[in-house]
Amino acid sequence: MSDTVHVLNGPNLNLLGTREPGIYGAATLADVEALCRAEGAALGFEIHFRQTNSEGALVDFIQEARGARGIVLNAAAYTHTSVALRDAVAAVGVPTIEVHLSNVFAREAFRHHSFLSPVVRGVICGFGPQSYVLGLRALASLPPAP
Ligand code: DQA
Repeated sequence: MSDTVHVLNGPNLNLLGTREPGIYGAATLADVEALCRAEGAALGFEIHFRQTNSEGALVDFIQEARGARGIVLNAAAYTHTSVALRDAVAAVGVPTIEVHLSNVFAREAFRHHSFLSPVVRGVICGFGPQSYVLGLRALASLPPAP
């Protein structure tokens, strides 16, 4: 089984650290990446960590993860808008954990709906950068693919 896990980040997450720090905290995306690499090393995963502001590029990243052990996906605002991302996750058949830094259910109503949640293995939100760590641990806990 592949040990590669793709950690994929959507729009505006490149601005973490300065973006609405009252909601998203002070950690930068580089800090989140370092956390994922440390946890990935502990779990025996090879981490591919990427960010894009473009919906189509995120579709490409998901397709490139075909055959991987898993995907930890923070699709950011596209979570709430993108049928294309949902279809990509469903198409590749890679166990995917949807993560969010903030507790989207404690925020505006438009963030309560996710196009991704019905096609992912599980959802983790509200724990800041630890949401990613918990996502990696969730992947590690899944039974091996048949
Ligand atoms: C987010 C939550 C989304 O609603 C928002 O659009 C984001 C970030 C989060 O990590 O909390 O950009 O995915």
